[in-house]
Amino acid sequence: MRINKYLSGCGLDSRRKCEKLVTDGRVKVNGKTVTDLATDVKDGDYVEVDGKAVNLSERKVYIMLNKPKGCVCTASDEKGRKTVLDFVKIKERVFPVGRLDYDTEGLLLLTNDGELAYTITHPKNMVQKVYSVRVEGEPSDMELKRLRSGVEYNGVKYAPARVTVVEKDEKQTKLEITVIEGKNHEIKNMIESLGRRVLFLKRTEIAGIRLGGLSRGEWRYLNSREEAHLKSLK
Ligand code: URA
Repeated sequence: MRINKYLSGCGLDSRRKCEKLVTDGRVKVNGKTVTDLATDVKDGDYVEVDGKAVNLSERKVYIMLNKPKGCVCTASDEKGRKTVLDFVKIKERVFPVGRLDYDTEGLLLLTNDGELAYTITHPKNMVQKVYSVRVEGEPSDMELKRLRSGVEYNGVKYAPARVTVVEKDEKQTKLEITVIEGKNHEIKNMIESLGRRVLFLKRTEIAGIRLGGLSRGEWRYLNSREEAHLKSLK
């Protein structure tokens, strides 16, 4: 099995991120550092990452967290900020599936199943994510139409989104926006392309799995129905 697939199967991260572990020289096979992505791992090989043994037999876990604002979605932060892993204290080493910004809250999936993380985050699979978004002012019908037919911001194109107006007052409008891409700062950039600002952003749903009533900072294991549904996307 290719080294990146093996590491991802051990729950280290998505296959793409695991390639970086290899090229950064953090991986050893049978005591020797390997940096070649064409390296294969065979039965009985001893694999280490940062000097710690990894293997394929770890139980796969699937978790949802209601990420609060004010924490990052990386395993460690060079600025010493709180990370989403500070909320989930379990013995398995899990990682976040995709990212939410520091000031975004809501549904974040965490797992040690690299294959599943890859499926959910790869744009080719068009997995739907739903956001509750409060924006400055009142977007016009024309602006909503632009979001629905796809916008461009700073040279990046954003695919058409499903947009519904949930409520509005004279200062702000609450929208529900469904996207399928998962680009960095996707929602904020789409709204910026209209010349408006996002005041509040929360993810409420991924692939039909809903955040529901979890409080900020709370997490739970996915139930068997949710887990089976995600696996059916693979
Ligand atoms: N879009 C954003 O702009 N930020 C997020 O955190 C998620 C989606």
